[in-house]
Amino acid sequence: MSATNRQVRLAERPVGLPGPQTWSIDEADVPEPRDGQFVVKTEYVSLDPAMRGWLNDVRSYVPPVEIGAVMRAHAVGRVIASKHPDYAEGDAVSGTFGVREYAASDGRGVVKVDEDLAPLPSWLGALGMTGMTAYFGLFDVGKASSGDVVVVSGAAGAVGSVVGQLAKDAGCTVIGIAGGPDKCAWLTDELGFDAAIDYKAERVGRRLRELAPDGIDVYFDNVGGQILDDALARLRLNARVVICGAISTYNATEPQPGPARYMSLLVNRASMTGFVVFDYEDRYPEAAAAIGELIRAGKLTPREEVVEGGIAKFGETLNLLFEGANTGKLVLAL
Ligand SMILES: NC(=O)c1ccc[n+]([C@@H]2O[C@H](COP(=O)([O-])OP(=O)(O)OC[C@H]3O[C@@H](n4cnc5c(N)ncnc54)[C@H](OP(=O)(O)O)[C@@H]3O)[C@@H](O)[C@H]2O)c1
Repeated sequence: MSATNRQVRLAERPVGLPGPQTWSIDEADVPEPRDGQFVVKTEYVSLDPAMRGWLNDVRSYVPPVEIGAVMRAHAVGRVIASKHPDYAEGDAVSGTFGVREYAASDGRGVVKVDEDLAPLPSWLGALGMTGMTAYFGLFDVGKASSGDVVVVSGAAGAVGSVVGQLAKDAGCTVIGIAGGPDKCAWLTDELGFDAAIDYKAERVGRRLRELAPDGIDVYFDNVGGQILDDALARLRLNARVVICGAISTYNATEPQPGPARYMSLLVNRASMTGFVVFDYEDRYPEAAAAIGELIRAGKLTPREEVVEGGIAKFGETLNLLFEGANTGKLVLAL
């Protein structure tokens, strides 16, 4: 193979928002598959808020990306050469291939994707880790069921937009919290949310009081900070608060205060539970089947924001997440 393999490496650990100095790009040879391996040409790379956490040299649920290492990333692509019995040239696959144009794999953690059901980018979104996070967070951790009032923050993002659609299908009343009138209109007019709160223009606490006068059964938190406090103040008896993420704090350079309203958990006999989607790996097929069925039935609309521009645009595309520039799942086309 004569092509080169451009790859993004972590050059230095960022303080605050990553900048151009955070990343370096180099060119390697395109790998040849060894026995038991195949080589993938990456077509789309997933942009995840969690990537910001992976850059910090702290103990977490996965080791930090080492300085000089190729940036960890989920991606989808196509097998271009194979010496693996289960993978053939042309297969579409998803896996943790990293931010690089070509990757060799032994198949561990790799899923073959069905392009008849949905195009490749959706396999990083609703049918990928995003959808798995929404499904297990909502139903396993949040124990959402018909009749519940479900509030989700980051509602127009990748995970949040799937959470809301799953909750609607399960018979819940769904209130989304998102930044800006266009995102809010998308949630109510196209995804069927019962209501949306524009946290950039409205008082979240007051609007929750109006929209959920009897309180909230499930709060699915993607953002943390003040919005978490506003939701805690509106819990109903036996409510479940699902700690999925806290994007509002990911670039903070000072320690962030914890929620002030946590005594609402005591008063309401409520729970607040964090989870990591990787713990559900054994059950991904269950979630993928359920979400696939809803897509087929036209009850769940996957949406991706595809940024063109290839490897060189990785750093600036990642930062779009922190600016709220994406609606649905953000992916980079290589
Ligand atoms: N626990 C797990 O296993 C797991 C797995 C996957 C993801 N997550 C977490 O789930 C959350 C959502 O991830 P995603 O991939 O779906 O990303 P996403 O929601 O598609 O993108 C991030 C969104 O967050 C919002 N945001 C950014 N800064 C904010 C701020 N300061 N305050 C409030 N909202 C802000 C923006 O939307 P607005 O325009 O609405 O501000 C932005 O579009 C993240 O916290 C992520 O870390 C957790």
